[in-house]
Amino acid sequence: MDQPIRLKNNGQINIVLNSQKRHAYPKEGERGTLTQKQRKQATTEELDALQALERELDQLVGLSEMKKIMKEIYAWIVINKKRQEAGLKPGKQALHMLFKGNPGTGKTTVARLIGTLLQRMEVLSKGHLIEAERADLVGEYIGHTAQKTRDLVKKSLGGILFIDEAYSLGRGGEKDFGKEAIDTLVKHMEDKHQEFVLILAGYKEEMDHFLTLNPGLYSRFPIVIDFPDYTTKELMEIAQTMLDDKEYVFSQEATRQFQAHLENVQSRESNNHFSNGRYVRNVLEKSIRAHSMRLLTEQEFDRAELMTLRSLDLKM
Ligand SMILES: Nc1ncnc2c1ncn2[C@@H]1O[C@H](COP(=O)(O)OP(=O)(O)OP(=O)(O)O)[C@@H](O)[C@H]1O
Ligand SMILES: [Mg+2]
Repeated sequence: MDQPIRLKNNGQINIVLNSQKRHAYPKEGERGTLTQKQRKQATTEELDALQALERELDQLVGLSEMKKIMKEIYAWIVINKKRQEAGLKPGKQALHMLFKGNPGTGKTTVARLIGTLLQRMEVLSKGHLIEAERADLVGEYIGHTAQKTRDLVKKSLGGILFIDEAYSLGRGGEKDFGKEAIDTLVKHMEDKHQEFVLILAGYKEEMDHFLTLNPGLYSRFPIVIDFPDYTTKELMEIAQTMLDDKEYVFSQEATRQFQAHLENVQSRESNNHFSNGRYVRNVLEKSIRAHSMRLLTEQEFDRAELMTLRSLDLKM
């Protein structure tokens, strides 16, 4: 049985799992026998789709480990279908993930992107992201926590349940209801592992400690992704992406000053105080407001000036 993978005109990948149009690659009699031309066409489309995925991932700066894993998941899905076509057992893999990293290193952004990608790969039916934290899971009396956690899992079916600062579930010790939330989650991860993807995120040290609290926890997350702090060069690229997106540019002097400032802050701040991409976003937003005020005061509405953030606009 053939599973066409199509590249839409807009570059989006569309994997058709149970398409009625299977005859896109007509069979030559025997199951799975394609002419050489058809085989080549199928392979090209799959590689095109892989390249489209790469382009999408490349919109995010850095994060090479995450990108590698997403490509592997894609490859696994394609090969899994090929294996089925060849009469082999379909593979099953839970895709629950652990994200470890400091603030602003892209965890929430990536969780959202993964939802979209897995939906497009038809691994998830909806691909939506539900972001939750301790208070959304932990209740106030016996039985309340299990109920709240079950409800949350229910809402997440077909998509991703993303629990930020997940280590806080393990903070209160044995008597805390957080443990009940963990136990309920663990149970649902197994029972419904094909129906939703659970992503737990948090700072590295806290997450490492959290995983020691329940011996079965670590092995239930086959995918662990580290989100390292960005280098100054990467932060400058992130700033560039954000500016492009908002249709602003830095003047040469503003670029130089911002870079020098980032180098300075990064050498000064202890690791988990600096908020990486979020810091860049905040500086840009403050600077854009200062720029607006300056132009309004100067009555300067020239197109180039409307776009250009100068060093005197930088608010860091
Ligand atoms: N690799 C990246 N490329 C482009 N922009 C990025 C990247 N990483 C982060 N950003 C931007 O930085 C900001 C913060 O990212 P995000 O909210 O995903 O971080 P986080 O790891 O979830 O932080 P926290 O732990 O504090 O919740 C967002 O505006 C995001 O768009
Ligand atoms: Mg986040």
